[in-house]
Amino acid sequence: LSILVLHGPNLNLLGQREPGVYGSVTLDEINRLLEKEGQVLTAEVTALQSNHEGILVDAIHGALGRHQGILINAGAYTHTSVAIRDAIAGVALPTVEVHLSNIYKREEFRHHSWIASVAIGQISGFGAESYRLGLQALVNEIRKSQT
Ligand code: DQA
Repeated sequence: LSILVLHGPNLNLLGQREPGVYGSVTLDEINRLLEKEGQVLTAEVTALQSNHEGILVDAIHGALGRHQGILINAGAYTHTSVAIRDAIAGVALPTVEVHLSNIYKREEFRHHSWIASVAIGQISGFGAESYRLGLQALVNEIRKSQT
């Protein structure tokens, strides 16, 4: 079982970016955490970060035939990108949406997610733990659908 993890814009700055909101954990640490959790779940994890919407769209298309599910923190594109939403709908791979912060506790413009309607579900507000929980939930859902 192979999972594609996508990190959207500005998540490369984690650790130094608004630590009051996002904490001190770095993207490398999150990827290592996912790698380890992947071993526990016997799932292979491939992670990609991009600040470019089209690269994320291409990565979603490229997941077809290579990965069985997508774990995505689309960052600010969560709230703006119909293109990423359509890409996920287009490949129809099981997808889980995650956010470090609780987007519903923050500014109004973060309350709407274009991804949510094409995701199995969303985990928001648990910092790096959101990713681990998201990976567990995604792998569970894929395995359930395979049996
Ligand atoms: C975020 C929340 C988004 O609103 C924001 O633009 C981000 C990070 C999160 O993980 O909490 O870049 O997706």
